[in-house]
Amino acid sequence: GIAFLDGQYLPMSQAKVSVLDWGFLHSDATYDTVHVWNGRFFRLDLHLDRFFGGLEKLRMTIPFDRDGVAEILHNCVALSGHRAAYVEMLCTRGASPTFSRDPRQAINRFMAFAVPFGSVANAEQLRRGLRVAISDKVRIPPASVDPSIKNYHWLDLVRGLYDAYDRGAETALILDFNGNVAEGPGFNVFCVKDGKLSTPAIGVLPGITRRTVFDLCVEEGLVAAAADVSVAALKAADEVFITSTAGGIMPVAEIDGAVIADGKVGPVTGRLMALYWQKHD
Ligand code: PDD
Repeated sequence: GIAFLDGQYLPMSQAKVSVLDWGFLHSDATYDTVHVWNGRFFRLDLHLDRFFGGLEKLRMTIPFDRDGVAEILHNCVALSGHRAAYVEMLCTRGASPTFSRDPRQAINRFMAFAVPFGSVANAEQLRRGLRVAISDKVRIPPASVDPSIKNYHWLDLVRGLYDAYDRGAETALILDFNGNVAEGPGFNVFCVKDGKLSTPAIGVLPGITRRTVFDLCVEEGLVAAAADVSVAALKAADEVFITSTAGGIMPVAEIDGAVIADGKVGPVTGRLMALYWQKHD
């Protein structure tokens, strides 16, 4: 992979940041990830919108505009040589030269990198569906209580993952403050019941893959709603799938050891998966 850091393109192994950076010390950072498939970026504009929205809400400034960031991302991919890449743009608060505790004194640091495409689900899991456990951990939006700022706050999600592994599952879903299903480590979730789709509305990152599912539903004449999804509703669904830039639309076969419907990838999920990848041509 290739990174862009402090004005230079570097091999990943040489891209290093100070331990005094507030990105590490206070999780004071925002980022976005976009993928490249067959050498082409997928919905880069939406990822840039979300990234620049996060910068503004966090009062961070970077010395590049949207076109400048897009150019850096394209260069990282070109230099890496990957035709299928996972590309990240990020900005940390940085560090203050005088060790000041005043965030206004910090020098914000923009970085980017391109590494090989990676997926939440591997090829076998995409065929047979993921085994998911629902953890009782609660998704805590970042300090600003604005989950639309894509952030590195994953303590809740990582604790949920350990719960899932302890129970023999492959990944986790965690809850919102009301005990409904929220999201998982790097993905949103959908369920299908009687042909209608629903996905949690509150306390979750508004994922761009989730948005692509809504767009596909409009094209396909399917009804989709962002609304509370209870644990019981998820377990009683006809189909469940998760969505992420890291893997697209991925089927879920089991929740807490109980098989969803007949345990096979459902017709709506299968159709959306095919349409999603067709959009990449
Ligand atoms: N994660 N929820 C969380 C907490 C996420 O981190 C992500 C994305 C999503 C899905 O959003 P999108 O469809 O825009 O990728 C939901 C990225 C891919 C990551 O893990 O690096």
